[in-house]
Amino acid sequence: MKYNLLLIVILALLLFSCSKDKAAAEIIPNSNVCDSINPVSFMNDIDPLLSANCYGCHSSISPIFNDYSSVFAVKDDILKAIQHDPSFSAMPQNSPKLADSLINKVQCWIESGAPNN
Ligand code: HEC
Repeated sequence: MKYNLLLIVILALLLFSCSKDKAAAEIIPNSNVCDSINPVSFMNDIDPLLSANCYGCHSSISPIFNDYSSVFAVKDDILKAIQHDPSFSAMPQNSPKLADSLINKVQCWIESGAPNN
């Protein structure tokens, strides 16, 4: 009897910890890319980065983005393109891949909820 109770308690704990893990997984970012980066600012980091490397073409070439709301709308595609994900055109077009530190900033900004800060 005592043994059965112990089993039930252990099962309940296992079930509880599983559902807790699932719930947590939905809010915890899927990488640790932000660990070594101070909070990223759209105004001070992302906008200047994209302005220097992308807006020249993408103010007139689709996908058009050159400010916060237009960047926000295609942010996931932007990240894939600068990461050189094989299912996207590698960006910036005809230029070397951006430094990892810059790509990580974009990823961290997106994982932080892509705030307009
Ligand atoms: C020299 C011009 C030029 C520059 C600079 C440039 N792009 Fe592009 N980009 C294009 C053209 C042209 C296309 C559409 C044709 C294509 O997909 O290759 C495109 C397509 C894209 C796409 C859609 C890709 C897809 O496969 O759906 C994204 C996202 C993108 N660019 C993001 C960026 C980002 C982010 C930067 C800066 C890091 C950048 N681009 C810099 C010309 C440029």
